[in-house]
Amino acid sequence: MKVLITGGAGFIGSNLAKKLIERKDDVVIIDNFNDYYDPKLKEDRIKILLGGCKFKLYRGDIRDEKLLNKIFKKEKLDKVVHLAGMAGVRNSLLNPFLYEEVNVRGTMNLLEMAVKYKIKNFIFASSSSVYGNNKKVPFSESDSVDMPISPYAATKKCMELMAHVYSHLYGLNITALRFFTVYGPWGRPDMALFKFTKNILEEKSIDVYNKGKMSRNFTYVDDIVSGIITVLDADLPYGVMNIGGDREETLVRFIEVIEKNLGKVAKKNPLPMQAGDVPSTVADIRKLRKLGWKPTTKIDKGVKNFINWYREYYKIK
Ligand SMILES: NC(=O)c1ccc[n+]([C@@H]2O[C@H](COP(=O)([O-])OP(=O)(O)OC[C@H]3O[C@@H](n4cnc5c(N)ncnc54)[C@H](O)[C@@H]3O)[C@@H](O)[C@H]2O)c1
Repeated sequence: MKVLITGGAGFIGSNLAKKLIERKDDVVIIDNFNDYYDPKLKEDRIKILLGGCKFKLYRGDIRDEKLLNKIFKKEKLDKVVHLAGMAGVRNSLLNPFLYEEVNVRGTMNLLEMAVKYKIKNFIFASSSSVYGNNKKVPFSESDSVDMPISPYAATKKCMELMAHVYSHLYGLNITALRFFTVYGPWGRPDMALFKFTKNILEEKSIDVYNKGKMSRNFTYVDDIVSGIITVLDADLPYGVMNIGGDREETLVRFIEVIEKNLGKVAKKNPLPMQAGDVPSTVADIRKLRKLGWKPTTKIDKGVKNFINWYREYYKIK
C-alpha cells in the first residue's frame, strides 16, 4: 500500500511514517518544515527517527496545487493521511488567516486530488477542540459541535464539513479523527509536556492556568498511530471518530508525574484560564474501540518515555 502522509515531518506524522515503513508500506511525505516551532526538530525527526528508513520526501506546501498534482500523478498513491496543518489553539488567535489558508484551503486541495486520483481512503486530523465549551462529557461524535471557540477549532470543524461534501459528492472514503491531546517522544515544543519539562529542568517557573483544574484525555503517540492505522486499513465511508486516551487526568496530576520523573518540583506560576482554551476534553472512544482499537499507554509510562527521549535528544544528564 502506498500512503501519502502530509505533515510527515511533524510529531504525529513522523511517528506514523515509522510504523508504516516498519510494516512495509510505501510512504511518501510532504512537509513544508515551517517555523511555527524549531524546524530543526522536524529535520531531526526525518534524519534520526526515520534515519535508515526508505521513503520519499517532498519539501513543499499543501497550498501549492501544482506540486500536489505532480506528487499524486507521479506517486500513484493508494491512501492519504492528512496531518499537515497549523496546530495550536493559542497561535490561531494571533494568525487566524494563516490557519484558514493552510487548514481549510490546504485540505480542499488534497480532497480535490483525492477525487482526481481515486484515493481509496482519506484520513485527516481533526481535533477535540471542535467540542468547544460543551458541558456534556465525555464528548461524543454525535454531540453538536457548532460552537467552536478558537479559529483553530473552527478550521477543524470546517475541514470536517468540507470532507463530508467531497465524500457525499464523489463517494470518497473519509474519516476525520478527532485527536485528544497527543504526547510522547519527539513531541511539539509548544505543548504542555515539552514546555513543563524544559522549564523545570532549567529551574524556570511553569505557567499553570486555571489552577491546573483542566482535565484531559492525554493520548500517547503510539496509541494515536495504532488508531490511525486501524482506520487506514478499514476503508470506511465518511465518518468522524474520537481518538483519545481512556483515562481522564487533571493537569495537576500530569504535572506531578512530570515532577516525579524529573526528580524535581516545579515552580508554579498560577494564571487564569486562557482565551480559547477549554476546561475539559474527555473522549467517548467507543466508536473506534468497535474497530478493535484500544489505547494502552498510561501517563506514567508515556511521560517517562518522553522525558527519556528529551534528555537524550537535548543531551541533558
Ligand atoms: N498533537 C496534538 O495533540 C493534536 C491534537 C489535535 C489535533 N492535532 C492535529 O494533528 C495534526 C498533526 O499534529 P502534530 O502534533 O503532529 O503537529 P506538527 O506541527 O508537529 O505537525 C504538522 C506538520 O505539518 C507541517 N505543515 C504545516 N503547514 C504545512 C503546509 N502548509 N504544507 C505542508 N506541510 C505543512 C508542519 O511543518 C509540521 O511538520 C495537525 O493537523 C494538528 O492540528 C494534533
